[in-house]
Amino acid sequence: MKVLIINGPNLNLLGRREPGIYGSQTMDAALDACHRIADIEYFQSNHEGALIDKLHQVGFSKDYAGIVLNAGAYTHTSLALADAIAAIELPVVEVHISNVHAREEIRHRSLISGVCRGVIAGFGLNSYRLGVEALICG
Ligand code: DQA
Repeated sequence: MKVLIINGPNLNLLGRREPGIYGSQTMDAALDACHRIADIEYFQSNHEGALIDKLHQVGFSKDYAGIVLNAGAYTHTSLALADAIAAIELPVVEVHISNVHAREEIRHRSLISGVCRGVIAGFGLNSYRLGVEALICG
């Protein structure tokens, strides 16, 4: 069984982007840890529609245990992404590198949490591995 990890906008800059918040490691480090425990497919896009297309494409497949999604700032703004998650059959785990609840108030609201299986936030790049574990263990 595969797990799809999806990263949204600006997460292609991990390692260079605001290292005080997101750390100085690239996504490759997180993916290495995930590859050790599951068969991982990875997709990143800065475009809302591309993220939705990917959810539609994989979301009814029997080959995946689920999807780990860091929607970046779209977490806080995108009803379209929430609708896409609600529409598909696979479970989606919402993950964040930072503890969004310890940050600006606008980041406390997630439009997608209510349609996700669960939420993991604040564990740095380990959040991705924890998300994968949540899907393959339960
Ligand atoms: C983030 C938190 C979001 O608020 C932010 O817009 C991101 C990254 C995180 O992983 O901590 O781009 O999802």
